Amino acid sequence: MDAAMPDPAGAPAATKAAKAAKATKATTVARKVAVRTQRRRWQRRTDSWEDHAVAGLEPVIEAVLAESGDSARGVVLDVGAGGGALAVPVASTAQRVIALDVSDRMLDRLAGRAEEEGLHNVEPVNRPIEELDLRPGSLDLIVSNYALHHLLDQDKSRFVHRAAAWLRPGGRLVIGDMMIGRGRSPDDRRILADKARIMMARGPAGWWRIVKNAWRLMTRTVERPMPMESWVRLLEDAGFVDVCGRRVVAEAAVVSGRRR
Ligand SMILES: C[S@@+](CC[C@H](N)C(=O)[O-])C[C@H]1O[C@@H](n2cnc3c(N)ncnc32)[C@H](O)[C@@H]1O
Repeated sequence: MDAAMPDPAGAPAATKAAKAAKATKATTVARKVAVRTQRRRWQRRTDSWEDHAVAGLEPVIEAVLAESGDSARGVVLDVGAGGGALAVPVASTAQRVIALDVSDRMLDRLAGRAEEEGLHNVEPVNRPIEELDLRPGSLDLIVSNYALHHLLDQDKSRFVHRAAAWLRPGGRLVIGDMMIGRGRSPDDRRILADKARIMMARGPAGWWRIVKNAWRLMTRTVERPMPMESWVRLLEDAGFVDVCGRRVVAEAAVVSGRRR
């Protein structure tokens, strides 16, 4: 179409192209900021996460492993592998595990843990998932535990589509994560109310946590969780079959699907 000629929607094509270019640039900048924020944050938080917080996620990790089934015998990608809470147990059955993360300190912990267990099939890779490029059909299983809520929403969707391409037919994608919206559904409201009750009972420290968590949930600057139903839809839209989601505990849930 001639750039000066209005298209059927009324906007000249050149204006539309300029708008699209601007939006792409804005997404690239937002992505860079998000990755840099996560890298800094997890370099700082490696020890507190690995020495304390991750212990509470054992039921989620078990659920991810259970959903992985036989796919866990092949080539596996763990996205946001951290110190290896999921990557290391998977490596005990897998042929090879690519453990992807943006924090060197996390990956050092992971490498140490794999060595302690005598596992030589774990390959730590320091790269944001947003920049990973793999051969189509080269993986049997893609797993992730409590990492994908850090991605921008458009990158969650992009990741799921790319994951479908990276998997061999029959391969599985299994995501364990905090899956919650901003309080619009009854499910969200019940989970948020339960959490608030527990924190209220902890006194001033708990009240401060409520304020901090509410701020994070509303502003979505470091944590951008999505409801379980939205994850299920993303996997279905990307062509996964046998898609199912189940709540493990509170906001933690597991969503999985199989490549046709
Ligand atoms: C809450 S920790 C979970 C670590 C591990 N999966 C576990 O279960 O213990 C989140 C991890 O995701 C990593 N991460 C955050 N954004 C990432 C990104 N865009 N690409 C790859 N890793 C990322 C962080 O560096 C951090 O190690």
